[in-house]
Amino acid sequence: MKNIWQKLKDNKQPFFVLAPMDDVTDTVFRRIVQKHAPVDLMMTEFANADGWCSPGKGAIGTRLLHKKSEKPLIAQIWGITPANYEQMARDIVAMGFDGIDINMGCPVKDMIKKGACSAMIQNPKLAKEVIIATQKGANGKIPVSVKTRIGFNTIDTEAWIGFLLEQNLDAIIVHGRTKKEMSKVPAHWDEIAKAVKLRDKLSPDTIIVGNGDVMSVEQGRKLAKESGVDGIMIGRGIFHNFFVFDEAKTNRDLQTMLPILREHTILHKKTWANEKFEPLKKFVKMYINGFAGASELRATMMQTKSHDELLAIIDKTSLSI
Ligand SMILES: Cc1cc2nc3c(=O)[nH]c(=O)nc-3n(C[C@H](O)[C@H](O)[C@H](O)COP(=O)(O)O)c2cc1C
Repeated sequence: MKNIWQKLKDNKQPFFVLAPMDDVTDTVFRRIVQKHAPVDLMMTEFANADGWCSPGKGAIGTRLLHKKSEKPLIAQIWGITPANYEQMARDIVAMGFDGIDINMGCPVKDMIKKGACSAMIQNPKLAKEVIIATQKGANGKIPVSVKTRIGFNTIDTEAWIGFLLEQNLDAIIVHGRTKKEMSKVPAHWDEIAKAVKLRDKLSPDTIIVGNGDVMSVEQGRKLAKESGVDGIMIGRGIFHNFFVFDEAKTNRDLQTMLPILREHTILHKKTWANEKFEPLKKFVKMYINGFAGASELRATMMQTKSHDELLAIIDKTSLSI
């Protein structure tokens, strides 16, 4: 049977993926996206395999919460201990995810110090062990992919992506920047195109997804045509346009966006209660944007300290439109 990556490639070229974003792409936001501007595939926020296999498991588990309406959905994991990847992969299969992605791209200092995420670019031995352990845990039931960058301090596409292409991965998501470049320079789409050429030579069945600075489906299609990638991943583009994955939706006025913010706030309260209120404010910025009076309304909403306070402003505003 075809896995999710193969199905997407067969059905749509290019297919589109919402990028995993810590504190953004939680179960609540994923459900809102799939309802209002659906995308072909989503991923969870990154979840720590070492934490999962420790007494702190509960805290990691919240990152893997999901509903059927979010599918197809891939769980993204990170960590340094191969045995923990294997165990977590087994559990992810049992939880009904459509795939497992290994984070080898995050440039955050704390992860690098541990030797995890993009630090693996400098440690192919551990990268290989982690991939083999995850594949063992997944046991052929769901596909295993890696999301990574094109090098650590310098561009190293040929060696690093070439190495990954020898690991029997189902897909590789290539963010076209080095770890050192963080998000400070434009993504090198010429290097992503190079990764596709390497794929054609070394591992023709591995699916390649390109990532970096894509702001619209139209731009994604153009970049896919130029680079040859099978799929396009969009992250920050959704902050600029919540409807980024639905080209037909061009109206983002108050009447359109306020009910979505209301729905998100209610679902967020139900799911996370007040402990997690502050992260919700990112979405106030995303939805209340780009129309007359947006900045004043946003400023008032940003002062709130609870879901109920925010809902009171939303409801008062609804009465005036
Ligand atoms: C707030 C935020 C959180 C992120 N968290 C993750 C993460 O958990 N896992 C991951 O692989 N990448 C993470 N990323 C990187 C994105 O998935 C993506 O690779 C990056 O933003 C480049 O794509 P873009 O230019 O479309 O935003 C994060 C990015 C942002 C902005």
